[in-house]
Amino acid sequence: MINLTGKVAVVTGASRGIGKTIAKKLHQAGADVVLVARNRELLEKNAADLGAAMVVSMDVSSADEVQAGFKEIIREKGNIDILVNNAGITRDNLLLRLKEEDIQQVLDVNLKSMFFTSKSVLKPMMKQRHGRIINITSVIGLMGNSGQSNYAASKAGIIGFTKSLAREIGSRNITVNAIAPGFIETEMTAELPETVQKEMAESIALGRFGSTEDVANAVLFLASDLAGYITGEVMNVTGGMYM
Ligand SMILES: NC(=O)c1ccc[n+]([C@@H]2O[C@H](COP(=O)([O-])OP(=O)(O)OC[C@H]3O[C@@H](n4cnc5c(N)ncnc54)[C@H](O)[C@@H]3O)[C@@H](O)[C@H]2O)c1
Repeated sequence: MINLTGKVAVVTGASRGIGKTIAKKLHQAGADVVLVARNRELLEKNAADLGAAMVVSMDVSSADEVQAGFKEIIREKGNIDILVNNAGITRDNLLLRLKEEDIQQVLDVNLKSMFFTSKSVLKPMMKQRHGRIINITSVIGLMGNSGQSNYAASKAGIIGFTKSLAREIGSRNITVNAIAPGFIETEMTAELPETVQKEMAESIALGRFGSTEDVANAVLFLASDLAGYITGEVMNVTGGMYM
């Protein structure tokens, strides 16, 4: 049984989908969870469902908002032990039709945000000589996907970022890992056409889509003491869609 009692965990994109389940699982393991996303109302509802949790609304692609938001968290909690960078968006289109703003927004929210949030937790983590940073990438960052060049580039970038930061701060006993979910049933994937969903299910060795719990369980493991000697890794949670 994983016990995270006494640990402060910040989860971005915790208003719905995978992030909401990650927050719930970390809370159930005893962590003091801080919920981050843009929509304060949704975050407050999720916090109430957990009993009590701090909520901070911010746009993770804004350096200023991230800096102010994490300052508030550190002031309130004293430290941060676990950071889960989960917030992400898609703006899918074939490259010929992709607008500059679709490219920029996806790179900013999915990738650039991780520079801001990770930078914000480094000092407290270095001070306590302990920390876990877990970045949610995607199988698409490893495989590529037609119509998702912006998304795939952002997710592949996360992997390079994860490995570099793992090397940079490993000596401080801070681990940095990435999780690459495959096809997980959420609002994000529900938007895909049925034919695409069917095609994807056929490419999964386990023959079914993953659940948000499947991803959250991997986060729980990487956040725990059990994963103390694992850093710079990409853990695939794809049901064998990619291996
Ligand atoms: N669903 C899947 O099959 C799947 C597969 C692989 C990877 N992922 C990744 O997992 C993560 C979560 O995906 P999901 O399916 O739960 O998506 P979702 O759309 O249901 O949730 C995304 C979350 O990110 C938040 N968010 C978006 N932009 C933000 C911003 N600018 N600032 C702050 N918060 C912001 C949203 O409010 C929401 O809470 C994403 O990074 C996604 O790329 C999902």
